[in-house]
Amino acid sequence: MRYYVSASVLSADLLSIGGEIKRLEENGVDMLHFDVMDGVFVNNITYGLPVLEQVRRATDMTLDVHLMITDPLRYAEAFAKAGADIISFHSESASDVRETIKAIRSAGAKPAVAIKPATSAESVYDILPEVDMLLVMTVEPGFGGQSFMYDTVEKVRLIRRRIAELGLECDVEVDGGINYETAPIVREAGANVLVSGSCLFRAEDMSEAVRKIKGDA
Ligand code: DX5
Ligand code: ZN
Repeated sequence: MRYYVSASVLSADLLSIGGEIKRLEENGVDMLHFDVMDGVFVNNITYGLPVLEQVRRATDMTLDVHLMITDPLRYAEAFAKAGADIISFHSESASDVRETIKAIRSAGAKPAVAIKPATSAESVYDILPEVDMLLVMTVEPGFGGQSFMYDTVEKVRLIRRRIAELGLECDVEVDGGINYETAPIVREAGANVLVSGSCLFRAEDMSEAVRKIKGDA
């Protein structure tokens, strides 16, 4: 299985975002994870389209956009046009899941569905053939730096098993509380795209942190 680290820039030095992006590129980070929060779907507000457009101009890295917003269907095309390569939206949002998947794909980005800790694996089995990635939240969405919820691991395992049974090539991303202790646990359960915010940006040696999270060190 190929493993990827997606850096959550929520934990970056946002006043020096250009330099932070260079640091990610130089240290072997695979993707840039861009958390969009609207203050309604989650209790926090981050950044949106104008910032993403500038990030797009600054890098060729894969932009992995995680929409924690109430109506992702309304903004899917705009985020694709702003430069998102992958767009994750929540199955718990107000938008129709299939319509949103369609809108993301026809705007030229890869669709992914995200689920909160209380949402079951079974609830997304039907849509696995339609998405490029499934995002399992391993904390309650809203803030970086939270502790990993161990009871989400079984869900990763069930989803990876179902993907294999269906013969699909779907990535499984985990997001929240990923560090040197929890990364091996989620990899073993079947996750292959690991989001890391606080662990990665706090590391003294970022390239070593990337290798450790991927299990190469
Ligand atoms: C939380 C966000 C995460 C968060 C991860 O709602 O979706 O991407 O920034 O940060 P850490 O790795 O610090 O848990
Ligand atoms: Zn995220």
